[in-house]
Formats: sequence, C-alpha cells, structure tokens
Amino acid sequence: MLANQNILVVVTGGIAAYKIPNVVRQLIKKGASVRVAMTKTAEKFITAETFRVLTKEPVLTDDNYQISPVAHINLADWSDLVVVTPATANTIAKLDEGIADNEALSTLLATTAPVVVFPAMNHNMWQNKRTQRHIKNLKDDGVWVVEPETGFLAEGYEGKGRLPDIDQQVKAIELVTEAIAQFPPLSSSGLKGFSFLISAGGTHEAIDPVRFLTNKSSGKMGVALSNAARLLGATVKLIATPEAAVLPKLPEVKTTVIESAIQLNDAIQNEYKNYDVVIMAAAVSDYRVAHYSNQKIKKQHQEKSGFQLDLMTNPDILASIDNRQCYKVGFAAESIDIIKYAKDKLNKKSADMIVANDISKKESGFNSDDNEVIIITENGEHFIDRNKKEAIAISVLKVIMEEYHKKAK
Ligand code: CTP
Repeated sequence: MLANQNILVVVTGGIAAYKIPNVVRQLIKKGASVRVAMTKTAEKFITAETFRVLTKEPVLTDDNYQISPVAHINLADWSDLVVVTPATANTIAKLDEGIADNEALSTLLATTAPVVVFPAMNHNMWQNKRTQRHIKNLKDDGVWVVEPETGFLAEGYEGKGRLPDIDQQVKAIELVTEAIAQFPPLSSSGLKGFSFLISAGGTHEAIDPVRFLTNKSSGKMGVALSNAARLLGATVKLIATPEAAVLPKLPEVKTTVIESAIQLNDAIQNEYKNYDVVIMAAAVSDYRVAHYSNQKIKKQHQEKSGFQLDLMTNPDILASIDNRQCYKVGFAAESIDIIKYAKDKLNKKSADMIVANDISKKESGFNSDDNEVIIITENGEHFIDRNKKEAIAISVLKVIMEEYHKKAK
C-alpha cells in the first residue's frame, strides 16, 4: 500500500517527537520513500541527523534550507502525502491560518498533496476553543486529522492529548493512502454523520476457569473496518474479543471487550438500534458449553473412552438484528460454494449484505494480513481482489455506502 509512495514527514516541537524515527523506519520498511522537514523546536527534542541517517536524505530545517534550490517547493511538489507528527497547537493554528514563518510551514502551504495531522499537546491546549476551531477548519478543508488519545500525559496526569503509538500512526497513514486511491472524490470526512457498530474476533466459550473453545479469527478485519470508518469521519463502536481489542486502533474507536457469544449478543442487542450500520465481523461460536465447571476439570484417569463435552446452541446474533432499524452486514467464512452459501446466509439471516471470504485459501482470510472477498447484496455481487485488510476495509465501506443509499431510497 505504501510502496512507491513519496511521504514527507513534518516533525514539530512536542515531547512525542522522540517516537517519530520509528514511524519513519516503519514507513520505509513498508516501501515508502520518506523525507523529513523539522521546525526549530522539534530540533530541541530530536536531531535532524537521526532522520538524515534513517532516510539517507537531507532534512529540511530552518538552518538547512539550501538542500535544493527552492527546497520547500521541491519537497512540496515531490510529496504524494504529507504527515505532520507530532503536530503542536502552534503549528495547527498556523497551518489553519496559512502562516508560513518557517521552512516546514512554507512546505505545508505550498503542497497540493493530502495532509494527515497527528495533534499532540497538553489536555487544556487541546480542549481550548481556539484549537478546536482550527481543528474543525482543517477537517472542513479536507485535512485528515487523527485525534489524540486520552491517557497519561508527559505532564504527569491523565488527559486527551497523547500522540497515538507508532503502529496506530502507521495504520492510519496506510488507510489514508488507500482511501485516497479508492475514493478520489471522497474527502477526509466522507462518512461524517454516520455511525457504525462493529464486532470483531473469535468468541471464547468457557469450559472451566482455565479453558475455552474458540476459533482462528484474529479480529483484524473488524478492527481494520473500525479504523477505516473512524478515519473517514464516522462514529464507531467496536465490540471486540480480548485478542481483537489489543490490535492497533485509532483513538476515538470506542471499544467494549467481550468474551463469549452470549456477552456479544447482550452488547449488540443493547446498542444496535442506535447505529446506522451494524457489521458482524466477529466469528461467533455456534455452540457453547452446556455445563460450565466452576472448578478446573481434572484429568479422568479411570476413563479409557476419553472425555465428552455437552454443547448447546448459541443465539444467532446477526439473524436477530432487525434490519429495518439499521443497515445490516454479515460476514461468511466458507470453504466451498462460496457464493451459494453466502446468498443462503443473506436470505436466511435477512442481511442487507454478506461479505464472503474463502477460508480454504491460505494467504487470505482467517488470521492473515490479507483478504479477498465477494460482497453480496440483493442487487448483485462485487469481487474485491486480494489486498491488505486495510485496503479491503476501504473497499467494503465504499460498497456499504453505495448500497446504504440505495436501500434508503
Ligand atoms: N453469526 C452470528 N451469530 C452466530 C453465528 C454467526 O451473528 N451464532 C454471524 C457472524 O458474525 C457472521 C455471519 O453470522 O456475520 C455468518 O457467520 P458464519 O460462521 O459464516 O455462519 P453460520 O451461521 O455459523 O453458518 P455455518 O457455520 O454453518 O457456515
């Protein structure tokens, strides 16, 4: 996704600047060409030399502006994407106002490439009405803003203002690249006003305090859909199993952690009527253990015939969602006759859409970073070629929005 992309990373003066060499390394590892521009205050936290060595390219700073004849214009024109991280309140305000009083800001003013901003600052600076006004203006102008996290700040207290971790930043950058490639006309707030409830991961069906039944689902597809929808401006609630809940998520993807199908069912039934789109990407166990043992089950030495577990049927959550209240999307994991079985599920579960994948293919589907899906609605089929789950997530959202509007008519 990032292969052959020219990415300019603009580093401004916040304590979180120490994380950015690792972001740059990850982007390079994923095949991007990376150049760096820094403000004077950023240089107080991290040296230009670090970035010069990592990128093997000169770094644009206020003291080193002659790296090419008109460096800020050359860099602005070279970039396919510009990432400002960490973005201080000062730089955000100037970016909004079009002020260009340093080399980094001059480059930002000169570029026509999409811009992604990762604000990081003190909680009160973030909450300040003036900062919020600038953020709103930037979003309205099509700048991609990944809001900061709530957590422990450098000041020594909890608040909103933390820079997302390296993996979260890289995921967001991948998603923006993909969204731009797939939806040229769609702005960074293409899903603004929409709300998504998304489930992810394979449920755990407890046998005793230490054992459970589960499946191979990693939750990566559901989390990729949650990140993509959030990045495009939607409100997102993720209901995730413990494995899925620890995958890199964008701040603002509100998450509830569940373990069993019964807990997932309770969470979905309580919430789904408040959302425009419900996506059941979770791999829900069809059965649960009939007699949970409060004590760890001991090995039965006397029994030669092995050990029997009684199972009982779990509720079918997707089938029980009323699709007059929301746009209802299910997944189908199939190993044969994919389209036939997916169509059966569309009808039997009265879903608006089924996203089907072939789990017999080793390189896509369960527990893989890639996927290849067929999207089925009553209006027809869309074949989405093998790609990273982030790219598939953007494609699926695009089809959901087209179909959502058809249903609403
Ligand atoms: N699903 C659900 N509740 C269940 C089982 C499945 O909500 N008890 C949802 C899944 O989240 C998915 C869709 O139904 O969106 C299809 O899941 P899948 O496991 O492929 O289908 P099943 O109905 O379990 O049928 P089968 O296992 O026989 O293919």
